[in-house]
Amino acid sequence: MNSAIRSVVRYAVFHQISVVGVSYGYQGLVDKNFRDLGRKDVSNIINLGGTFLKTARSQDFFDKRARKKAYKNMVESGIDSYIVIGGNGSYRGALVFNREFDFPVVGIPATIDNDIAGTQETLGFDTALNTAMEAIDKIRDTAYSMDRIFLIEVMGRKSGAIAVHSALAGGAEDIIIPGIEKDIETVLQKVKQGRKTGKKSWIIIVAEGSGKTLTMAEGLRKYIDDVRVTVIGHVQRGGNPSAFDRILGARMGKAAVDALLNGKRHHAIGWVNDGPIIYPLRDAVQYKKEDFSKFIELIQVLT
Ligand code: F6P
Repeated sequence: MNSAIRSVVRYAVFHQISVVGVSYGYQGLVDKNFRDLGRKDVSNIINLGGTFLKTARSQDFFDKRARKKAYKNMVESGIDSYIVIGGNGSYRGALVFNREFDFPVVGIPATIDNDIAGTQETLGFDTALNTAMEAIDKIRDTAYSMDRIFLIEVMGRKSGAIAVHSALAGGAEDIIIPGIEKDIETVLQKVKQGRKTGKKSWIIIVAEGSGKTLTMAEGLRKYIDDVRVTVIGHVQRGGNPSAFDRILGARMGKAAVDALLNGKRHHAIGWVNDGPIIYPLRDAVQYKKEDFSKFIELIQVLT
């Protein structure tokens, strides 16, 4: 996100547009937590995870009175449009605010879940994926050395994106994601089959959103002793962004400023075929329905 903020600020300044940074997201709009941002204010942030502006999941913004206050704060401060960087919740807020006050907005998709409709990439996904993959690599050392079965839970509130990509990149044996049911018996049969052919360690990637990590572990433990669970957790939401994410942030930031300069008022930036696109915010506000069957088939074949 910092790369996108840096790009927005510096590209806007290049066009002699002044920029106001909002701390704590929508909560900052309500609380008038604003500060002017110039070129130097975004120095030395491109390599940092998270957002130097800080963010929050604002409860206040669900209330129309708070949104009215946010609108008043923005008008009073001379703000005439804004760029929101975030996921589904941020986009829903932007759409409501836009409908109520006709306030111009452009969204930049940022979520490690990569689940925003209309864009192939979201900021943070690549970094989180690489973190998950590195964790799987490290866990593999114990799994292999001690002939163990590991269930590794990766993030993804509703999405299996990190799970399928990290499973394939990390050479996992099996995968459990939301929406694709897998019973303990099926997993167990595969493990038993593998053991007959000399495959003694087993890595199963479970997407957080499936809610199956602990029940699957308990189920497997009835038949196999050495089952371990690792929840990678918030490690995936931080750390130095990958080169890909930094470039994505820089290019999407520029695209968002261009969109506002070109009069877009309720749009989002997407990433399709290696370049930015602009499309209506209402189309971006839905969750992406991705078909992961090709990934899953390949993971099974390569086991
Ligand atoms: O939506 C992105 C995400 O990282 C999910 O993968 C995860 O479930 C959630 O956010 C974690 O949010 P919080 O830190 O608020 O618990």
